[in-house]
Order: sequence, then C-alpha cells, then structure tokens
Amino acid sequence: MSHTTLTFAILAVADDCRCCCTDHRSSSLFYPNRLLRALIADDRRCSDHRCCCATVTIVISVLLIIVFSVLTSLNIYHPIPIVFSQAKGATVWDPEGNKYLFFLSAYSAVNQGHCHPKILKALTEQAEKLTLSSRAFYNDRFPPFAEHLTSMLGYDMVLPMNTGAEGAIIVSCCGCFHGRTLAVIFISCDNKATQGFGPLLPGHLKVDFGDAEVLERIFKEKGEHIAGFLLELIQGEAGVIIPPDGYLKAVRDLCTRYNVLMIADKIQTGLVRTGKMLACDWEEVRPDIVILGKALGGGVFSVSAVLADKDVMLFAFDEDFEAQLADNDDARLDVSLLARSPDQELLKLVTQ
Ligand SMILES: Cc1ncc(COP(=O)(O)O)c(C=O)c1O
Repeated sequence: MSHTTLTFAILAVADDCRCCCTDHRSSSLFYPNRLLRALIADDRRCSDHRCCCATVTIVISVLLIIVFSVLTSLNIYHPIPIVFSQAKGATVWDPEGNKYLFFLSAYSAVNQGHCHPKILKALTEQAEKLTLSSRAFYNDRFPPFAEHLTSMLGYDMVLPMNTGAEGAIIVSCCGCFHGRTLAVIFISCDNKATQGFGPLLPGHLKVDFGDAEVLERIFKEKGEHIAGFLLELIQGEAGVIIPPDGYLKAVRDLCTRYNVLMIADKIQTGLVRTGKMLACDWEEVRPDIVILGKALGGGVFSVSAVLADKDVMLFAFDEDFEAQLADNDDARLDVSLLARSPDQELLKLVTQ
C-alpha cells in the first residue's frame, strides 16, 4: 500500500465522519485505541456512509497498527508495512482481506504452515491436561519426544531448550548468525550487535564462511585448543548464502582430522527447510552436534534442542545445565513431537 493511499484514506474518514457521525469521529480519530477495537470487532456506527467508512477505516486500521507497533515497542526490526491478521497454511490475510503467500515462513518457524490442525490439536489437548511438571519431576511426554527426535535424526541424545540462541552456547568460530544472547553475539562478526558491550568473550576464533583452507590453517595452528567449530550450513541472516560445493564435507573431514566438534546450527535450515530433513544431508555430512529451533515449535511457541551422541552430550553438558521451561514443558514437547510428522510428509512432497 502506498503512502498516498494511506494519507488519502485518513482524510476520507475524517471528512466522512464529520458529515455523518461526530461520535465516531471523536471516538476514533482522537482515541485511536477505541477505533482499533471497534474496527477489529467490526463495530461501525456510520450507517449512512457504511460502505465508504468500512473501506477506508480498515485501511486506517492497518496504518494505526503499524504506528502503534512502532511507538509502543522497541523497534529492533524494520518490518515490511503489511499487517497479518489471519493465516492458514502458507496463506496470510491482512485486515482488509488482501491475501498473501508467506514465503518467508517466519524465518522457518512456521515451516509446517500457519495454524496446522495437528499442531493446534496437540497444543490444546495437552495444554488442557498438563502444561508443566518442572525439572523436579518426570512427565509422560518427554520419552516419546526424545525417542522421536533422536531416532529421526540419528543421534543418541537430545537436550531440549527454549530458544535458538540458548541452543548455540557451545561455540567456537564463524561469521554466521546464531542469535542475540551475549555469548552468541560475541562470537558473531556483527560489530553493531556488540557495540557498547564488553569485555568480549575470550577464546573464540573467526573464519570466513566457505573458506576451508583458512579453517585448516587455524586447526593446524590451534587445533588442540579448539573445542568446536560452529556454523550455519546456509547463512540466513547474512542474506541466504550457500557455501561452495564440497565445503560441508571439507569441514567434516577437517573436524574429524583435528579432533574438533562440528556443531551445525540448523535452527533455520533444519526440518525440511532446504528440501532435505537437514541442510547437511545435501552433502551427506553428519555433524557431531546439531542445534534445532524455530520449526521445532510448530510455529506456536519457541523451543529448541541440541542433538548429539552420548559421549559428546555428556562431555559438553553437565547436570547443572538449566533450562527451566524446556525439557518438562509437556505441551511444547507434545507439539514438537507432532510438528515433525507433517515434515516427513513435506519431505516426501519436496523431494518428489
Ligand atoms: C541460524 C540461527 N541461529 C540461531 C538463531 C537464534 O534463535 P532465537 O531467536 O530463537 O534465539 C537464529 C534466529 O533467527 C538463527 O537464524
């Protein structure tokens, strides 16, 4: 929608309201919250100019939602000026009823599509039964969740957590994006993110994405002291950058040769986002540690998971590791369990 249309729409409503309904004008233009509520509830009181008011006020509601969002929240992103009001599968509607195809998939958090019926059913059924058991007890949803995820991806163990950035705390080097916690921004090459913070986390190295030669040089020099090499398999935040052919295989070989853990951040590229279950499947590479997030929550909440074989998992995390709401949040585990069944179907479709 262009700025001209929006400006015109405001004037049109102001004029219409002045001539037909003072009450509407005062309760809407000067108290925009009320206008928003009235519009959302479809409560239009201008009977004489119903059509005109209806059309233009909905346009105004879009403008108001954007303005309110900008004014009342920390503006850390720069969203495209489109307001989502309803969604189903890959389709999104704005308050005017305009329909969009949502290719971004919330950076892969809704890979399964919006409001997937199986996911919503699991969410509501489990939420009515039991939501949280805390770490002090067991719950009956964890074993099927852990079994499903580990057997689907071929690892011994899983550690569920809350967000992608938490999942990425075992770190080494790379110019990729892994989230916005302090530890994680310090290993990024995003100088803007670290500005004003310090001292920086010591003990990390940076290497250009896609450059296996430099990686080998670093491993050769310091391999004994490097615990792991963390990378996105396709850089997302950096602008969807695919590594050169053979890079993932080269990284795998180098990690094995120099005894460095290969840690794959598949928060954005996991669970069929790239047409394979995991992006590294394209080069038939098996990382030592896999970090999942986003789509794991089925688009209804944030949950992440770290997968590894037993020796690595027990070495990397001790029992003091704490994620209060993660591994015993029954409703989330239940949704996560179901969120991957459609992925299997999706995988078949995508690869056909
Ligand atoms: C590749 C990658 N890793 C980690 C994260 C951080 O995830 P979260 O925002 O859930 O902490 C993101 C988020 O966009 C991401 O794209």
